[in-house]
Amino acid sequence: MSRQPDLAIALDLPDVRAALALVDAIGGEASWYKVGPVLFVRDGPALVKELAGRGKRVFLDLKWHDIPNTVAGAVASAAALGCELATLHLIGGPAMLEAAASSRNGSGLKLIGVGVLTSFSAADYAAVMARGVADVGEEQERLVRFALGAGLDGFVAAAPETPRVRRVAGAAALLVSPGIRRAGAAPDDQRRVATPVEAVRAGSDLLVVGRPVSGAKDPAAEVRAIRAEMAG
Ligand code: C5P
Repeated sequence: MSRQPDLAIALDLPDVRAALALVDAIGGEASWYKVGPVLFVRDGPALVKELAGRGKRVFLDLKWHDIPNTVAGAVASAAALGCELATLHLIGGPAMLEAAASSRNGSGLKLIGVGVLTSFSAADYAAVMARGVADVGEEQERLVRFALGAGLDGFVAAAPETPRVRRVAGAAALLVSPGIRRAGAAPDDQRRVATPVEAVRAGSDLLVVGRPVSGAKDPAAEVRAIRAEMAG
C-alpha cells in the first residue's frame, strides 16, 4: 500500500450478490474492499476470489482473538487466499500476535491490530472492563504500546486517536480508521466519527467507510465525494 491515504469500502451486506453489485456500481473509484464476518461466514473464499478477479484488494476484517495456534492457522489461510490486510485483537496478547505475525509465510498479508472498537464510549468500555476508564484513547494507546515488537504492520485507530497511536507506533505503522462520515452525515452506531479530511490530517493511511457508501443511491458518486473531502 502506498503512503498516499486510501479508502476501503466495508462490504457489510447480507449476501455476495449484493456485495458484488455494490463493487460493480463503484467500478474504478475504489480498489480496497473490507470483508467482514457476515459475508465471510456465508461465502468467504468464493467472494475473495471474485474480488481478486475484478482486480480488487481484500481487507479481511475478522478481528481474530483465539489461542495462538488457531490464530496462526487463520492467518496462514488468509495469506493463501490472497488477502492483503487482516485484523486481530490486541487483547489476544503478545503470544497470539507473534504467532500470527510469523504465520504469513512470506505472503504480502499485513496484520492490523484492533484495540478498542469505535462503537465503544468510555462509559460502555468501563462497564465491560469493570474498572474506571476515563478516556478510550488512553486505552487504545496502552494496548498498542503493549503490542509493539510483536511484528504487526499497523493498527486500527479511530481518527481522533490516530495522532497518539502514531506517536506510539511510529511512522512506518499503517493506521486504519473506521468511523468516517462526511460532514453532516448520520453517525449510525459509531461514537467517535471524523470527516474524511480530519482523518487524513490526523495521519490515517486507510479510511474505512461502509454504510454511507452501501446506502447511497449512487455509490460511485459517494466514493468520489469522500475522496474529494479527503483531499481537503
Ligand atoms: O458503516 P460504517 O462506515 O460505520 O462501517 C465501519 C466498518 O468498520 C464496519 O465494517 C466495522 O465493523 C468496522 N470497524 C469499526 N471499528 C473498529 C474496527 C472496524 O467500525 N474499531
